[in-house]
Amino acid sequence: MQFTDEQIFELLQHVYQQTGFDYRDYATSSIKRRIQDAMDIERIKTLEEMSRRIFKSDEAMRKFILTLSVPTTSLFRDPEVYKCLRTRVLPKLENNPIRIWSAGCSSGEEPYSLSIMTREEGLAKHTRTYATDLNESAVEAARKGMFRLSVMQDYTSNYHLAGGTCDFSDYYTSGYGWAKFHDVLKENLVISQHNLVTDSSFNEFNLILCRNVMIYFNKALQDKVHALLFESLAPGGYLVLGDKENIRFTPFERFYKPVAPVLKIYQKSE
Ligand SMILES: C[S@@+](CC[C@H](N)C(=O)[O-])C[C@H]1O[C@@H](n2cnc3c(N)ncnc32)[C@H](O)[C@@H]1O
Repeated sequence: MQFTDEQIFELLQHVYQQTGFDYRDYATSSIKRRIQDAMDIERIKTLEEMSRRIFKSDEAMRKFILTLSVPTTSLFRDPEVYKCLRTRVLPKLENNPIRIWSAGCSSGEEPYSLSIMTREEGLAKHTRTYATDLNESAVEAARKGMFRLSVMQDYTSNYHLAGGTCDFSDYYTSGYGWAKFHDVLKENLVISQHNLVTDSSFNEFNLILCRNVMIYFNKALQDKVHALLFESLAPGGYLVLGDKENIRFTPFERFYKPVAPVLKIYQKSE
């Protein structure tokens, strides 16, 4: 790649000043890779040309920002995590109104998985799941609750590995290459845009999933988001991180106890 960290920082600084989207503390190697991808797609040769284009056109800026966030996700991603939530975490929450936050929910696969699981455990009536993401298009997609039919076979297998016992196809109708999940699964979902870096805490939760989001942040930004998650978690509430993320070496490590550390499930002290 032909650009330096300083050039990238300067570009991201201008993006922040113009749009309020702050990518300055995202891990440089992954940001560089994604900027290069965006340039390749648009057949742009230099960072200056990219910069000129995005500051001239709102649409180009919007597209550029979308390429900076990585939306990869799946239903019941890492099924053993969901199995553990189903068998060890949800039973501990069942006597209370339950508030769940899927922070960095991408196109909704995570909150829909939670919605299915809480229904099957008989908790849907007193559970509300808040699903948020920085990326507007991802939030829009999450609201639709439509996933490509081509991945449904993998998702069905994830669902069963995660302890699901029903017929998974009963949750959606299919047509034109898409699976549309039934609206009933949305009844307890609140889906909205929220930026973990610049927005504040908006509720107190019993369970927070913030998976595969901070992996793209540098240490300072990770600590900042950990502070937000800690503040947003009720005493005794549960935190679930992604496979490559960790509570260790964060300023909050000592306030959590491990529930299933291999699966990155932790409980905040009472
Ligand atoms: C790789 S996806 C993970 C989706 C889901 N949590 C999972 O594990 O399957 C990362 C998501 O984090 C979102 N994201 C990145 N930075 C964010 C921020 N500052 N605030 C909120 N969401 C953010 C991205 O838009 C993307 O949808």
